[in-house]
Amino acid sequence: MTRPVFEFGTNGLPPPESDGRLDAPAFHRNCEPIWQAIKSFLIGKTGAVLEIGSGTGQHAVTYAARTPDLTWWPSDISPLHRASIDAWRQSAALANLRPPQSIDLMTADWNWRGDNDCENLAVLLCFNVLHIAPWRVAENLFAGAGRQFGEGGHLLLYGPYKRDGVHTAPSNAAFDASLRARNPDWGVRDMTDVTALAQRHRLTRTDIIDMPANNLVLVFAREPAA
Ligand SMILES: C[S@@+](CC[C@H](N)C(=O)[O-])C[C@H]1O[C@@H](n2cnc3c(N)ncnc32)[C@H](O)[C@@H]1O
Repeated sequence: MTRPVFEFGTNGLPPPESDGRLDAPAFHRNCEPIWQAIKSFLIGKTGAVLEIGSGTGQHAVTYAARTPDLTWWPSDISPLHRASIDAWRQSAALANLRPPQSIDLMTADWNWRGDNDCENLAVLLCFNVLHIAPWRVAENLFAGAGRQFGEGGHLLLYGPYKRDGVHTAPSNAAFDASLRARNPDWGVRDMTDVTALAQRHRLTRTDIIDMPANNLVLVFAREPAA
């Protein structure tokens, strides 16, 4: 049995006793479009994929099943979400999907624990997190990517973004206003700011992929060492 999530992190519902799996309606709309946008960074690759703010865990479990050569590491700050991720993980019984870690991007020196010290972090995913958190979360995300990527690492973001200070659609402007009303430190981020932040941590934005519902996938690649 799954339980719907209407608003991430705010409905406060405990998981049902029999099963902690949560079901996000947005996942059913964005799962395939996101896969089409990011699959070239995953298929045929090896190493680890770390997802920050995995939410229900549905993206991780779906994409891990399609990429058996990668080791998937979901994570979330919320115990409720980690319980859901783990319940999805157990029901899928995939050899390459690891238990969720507790990673809080408000922590400057956050770290990821792989199977061993040599495990290469190939891809870092962060979907729909940067607008629902303070800017510090973006700063810490890119700083952590800069610290932990080897050569060839990619950071893939999905969500709504402004372009040069302008919303890409009236619905994004309304969404931004609603976020800021809930928390003045939240809000739709500007691609220019995010790209400048990436550059400070040796990451170059290599692609901007238009997505349904006025969202974008932003692709950042680790710059070669000077
Ligand atoms: C809108 S949900 C997106 C979930 C999932 N990525 C998706 O797209 O379906 C935002 C997620 O970010 C997590 N989150 C919020 N603040 C965070 C932080 N400081 N560090 C890590 N995760 C955080 C929340 O617990 C929630 O699961």
